[in-house]
Amino acid sequence: MTAKPKLLVTRRLPPAVTDRLMKEFDAVPNADDRILSPDEIIAGAQGKDALLVTPADKVNAALIERLPASIKMIATFSVGHEHIDLAAAKQRGLPVSNTPDVLTDATADIALLLMLGAARRAYEGERAVRDATWKSWSTTYMLGVHMTGKRLGFFGMGRIGQAVARRARAFSMTIHYSNRKRLPADLEQGATFHADTEAMLPHCDFLSINAPGGADTYHWFNAERIAMLPDGAVVVNTSRGGLVDDTALIAALKSGKLFAAGLDVFENEPNLNPAYRELPNVFLLPHLGSATIETRNAMGFKALDNLAAFFAGKPLLDPVG
Ligand code: DGY
Repeated sequence: MTAKPKLLVTRRLPPAVTDRLMKEFDAVPNADDRILSPDEIIAGAQGKDALLVTPADKVNAALIERLPASIKMIATFSVGHEHIDLAAAKQRGLPVSNTPDVLTDATADIALLLMLGAARRAYEGERAVRDATWKSWSTTYMLGVHMTGKRLGFFGMGRIGQAVARRARAFSMTIHYSNRKRLPADLEQGATFHADTEAMLPHCDFLSINAPGGADTYHWFNAERIAMLPDGAVVVNTSRGGLVDDTALIAALKSGKLFAAGLDVFENEPNLNPAYRELPNVFLLPHLGSATIETRNAMGFKALDNLAAFFAGKPLLDPVG
């Protein structure tokens, strides 16, 4: 019997994924689920064949440079891969895989939850019920804004954006989008494409941020672009926190330029800008986009499928970079 590939698994994995991991690989998952320091990753990687990492691990050029020669591949338990320096990995000859597709629906569901939660003041309402500050039904109490029939714009219309748009059509929303490439008609489904992102913004009663993170989109949602939205717009972000200039968004939520925001992702999460915690008109979730049992199992299995393919000498199923 050939020896099982040895993995450094940086975090705890869902039980079903751990079971398969232990059968097919020589690995010890991180039982207490603590984020490992770069030194701990380097120490843990000694004698291992591959890394299985998550978006919480910063696999930057400095870390990649220090990896032992035994490491032959990096798999990430995520579709996003901006936490890995792909150029540095390529230079070291390390293939990288991710987990696309399987989290599309779960993340799109959360985008809808954020849109409804922000527009209908779900956080304030929930708190009022729990705090017993809700006094009675009233014609003017805690009024939100209507989502049905409004215009929804997308910054980024990949798999997840398209899945959000499919759901939004059930709310009779009119879809606008800006994307690197125009979609073919069967995927566009009557949505209006804007080659110029800024030209789209005045048409967005709601805006969903679905573009990948990284240097190209860093702080894309800034004061200038917020000013281009209609007054009272609602913004949701299920992509990466780095796309949003928090100072600008917080100012627009305070001034009332934006009615509300729904955020599942944050720059420097979990250490988000503390001003968000004080704002009633932001609906906050702790990066739960893909957090269903079914989806996290599917993501884990996909990461293992990629590792298994690599060690069987086959092409990666989901290569990135
Ligand atoms: C990903 O896979 O990149 C997601 O952000 C995890 O929910």
